[in-house]
Amino acid sequence: MIVKSLELINFRNLKKEKVEFLKGINFLYGNNGSGKTSIAEGIYYLSSMRSFRTSKENLLINQESDYFQILAEICNNFEKNKLIITYDSKGKHIFLNGNKISKISELFHLINCLYFIPKDTEFFKGPPKIRRNFINMNISKIDTEYLKLLMNYEKLLKSRSDIFKKEKLDYRLINILTNQMIEISYKIYQKRKKYIEQLNTVLPTVFNKIVGKTYGNIHFKYLSFIDNKLNYKEIAKAKYQESLEEDKIKKITTIGIHKEDYALFIDDNNIGLYGSQGENRLAILSLKLSPYYLIDNNKPIVILDDVLSELDNNNQNNLLNLINEFEQVFITSTTKISNKNINCNYFKLEKGKINFEGGNYE
Ligand SMILES: Nc1ncnc2c1ncn2[C@@H]1O[C@H](COP(=O)(O)OP(=O)(O)OP(=O)(O)O)[C@@H](O)[C@H]1O
Ligand SMILES: [Mg+2]
Repeated sequence: MIVKSLELINFRNLKKEKVEFLKGINFLYGNNGSGKTSIAEGIYYLSSMRSFRTSKENLLINQESDYFQILAEICNNFEKNKLIITYDSKGKHIFLNGNKISKISELFHLINCLYFIPKDTEFFKGPPKIRRNFINMNISKIDTEYLKLLMNYEKLLKSRSDIFKKEKLDYRLINILTNQMIEISYKIYQKRKKYIEQLNTVLPTVFNKIVGKTYGNIHFKYLSFIDNKLNYKEIAKAKYQESLEEDKIKKITTIGIHKEDYALFIDDNNIGLYGSQGENRLAILSLKLSPYYLIDNNKPIVILDDVLSELDNNNQNNLLNLINEFEQVFITSTTKISNKNINCNYFKLEKGKINFEGGNYE
């Protein structure tokens, strides 16, 4: 899939900018504060209806306005779609080809973005939620049932946790909800396990291509709440029983698939705990690009915000060679690249204005 055109109105420092993008590498360059990340953020917004840098959406509205609008043309293999998103103090209004969209999940398959942003260097050092979100998002994009299971699980989890907030506990209801949660958890567990196995079939290749040599055995690990396919449900029942006292004290559901985590190992080294800054960055970058290879049709759009400045020359060139093969990439940097073997279309950002400057291959 590709974003063919994008218009941002009152979005961050972009007052009213329209731009046509191309296949391959769209290289956004310009000084600090010119608006590169804002463009990338606008593109990402199309895929998830949220920002990758803040959960406070009102910050996206230009300070001199009271709404923002994003208009985009997105081309998939066989179709072209027009998406219009307007956000103001009353909320979000989305139109797809002129039809109002009420559920964001209806748009989930329209556009898929993989991204790496400077904040991602905290991916393994930060809280588990960051890693869970990454996996949840990627499975949801290829498996609609997964998203439904997650939503149902969240509802049950809320109902179960609400019981503990009441004065008199309804043990019968706790039992019913726990059993329903276990049924769903088992399905989610299987899907997560399968996805992590698939990721591990491509991750070492991506990693070795970026670091340019065999660095070690890289492996992404699913730290599941229960790891037993045969006796999952019995073990889960026993665990919920054991944790009931703690649930009562804390008035929440203290265990379950909503608490699970993931870790990345190079040989036996847990990168989050022992990896150097560079190792972390290369490992996370490889992990975040790996889902690209697990999707056959409608390849995801890839956004790399400010990634080059942090890499040495070799790794930079290796990364550029890798993404050169991708269907559409958006990469931001303060300077153009010197590698003439990489075909880039350059877009210059200057004080919230974007201009296409042509490619380096013409
Ligand atoms: N809601 C907003 N309204 C107006 N301006 C904003 C808003 N949010 C951010 N800005 C400003 O927009 C400008 C562009 O920010 P952006 O993060 O896109 O820059 P950038 O080109 O990626 O810079 P850098 O190279 O430093 O990463 C900045 O000056 C920022 O302060
Ligand atoms: Mg930036």
